This record gives sequence, C-alpha cells and structure tokens, in this order.
Amino acid sequence: MAQGSYSDIVIDHFENPRNTGEIPAADGEAEVGNPTCGDVTKIFLKIEDGRIVDVKFKTFGCAAAIASASMTTELIKGKTLDDALKVTNELVAKELGGLPAAKLHCSVMAEEALQAAIEDYKKKSGAK
Ligand code: FES
Repeated sequence: MAQGSYSDIVIDHFENPRNTGEIPAADGEAEVGNPTCGDVTKIFLKIEDGRIVDVKFKTFGCAAAIASASMTTELIKGKTLDDALKVTNELVAKELGGLPAAKLHCSVMAEEALQAAIEDYKKKSGAK
C-alpha cells in the first residue's frame, strides 16, 4: 500500500478526521485548491473576541491533505488569530509525525486555507 510511508498519526487523522463539516454563516471561510493535483480544502472559522472558538474543514484530496487539514483544525482551535497564524505547514507536518517529502506540499494547502479564512474574516469584520 502506498500509505506505508505515512506515520501512524497521519493514518489516524486520515481515517478519523477531526472537525470535518461546515459552519453555516462562518465568520471566515476560504477554499484553496492545488492546481497540480486538483485537491481542494475548505476551512470555516467561528471567531469570538479575536479567538477561534470553532473550526470545521472539508478536504477533497489525498490522505496527507486530509490529515494535514484535520491536524491544523486541532492546533488552531481556541487560539487567538495571531497564534493561529503561527501554525505553519512545517508545524503541522511535525505534529503529524512527519510527512514523506513528496507529500509536504499537501500540508501547504491546509496552511493556505487557514490563512485565507483568517483574511476573509478580517475583510468581513473590517479589522485590519
Ligand atoms: Fe494533492 Fe496531496 S496530492 S494535496
């Protein structure tokens, strides 16, 4: 199986992704696609007093993309926007127990979706 090079944590998050779904009327949301493979991740944020109180995601993509988005949501839940922006794809990959080099770009999609969702919130709320 191709998943042989994935860590147990990646496989766990792929098989049991955390925080999947949508938040209706989210405070911030964004969809990011990877033009090379065609995979897509959407992130929805509920924000109160500058803090992420809820987050959901939907990923149509490979195991690494799903695991990365799942881990990203776990890492940002409850964090302030500033702290959430420090959750990089390197951190996500590390928390996942590493990703095969050829799959690192999959974790970038989750980071980009998170950043775009926070941008969307800032635009909607008029914050800078
Ligand atoms: Fe497309 Fe992983 S192969 S995100």
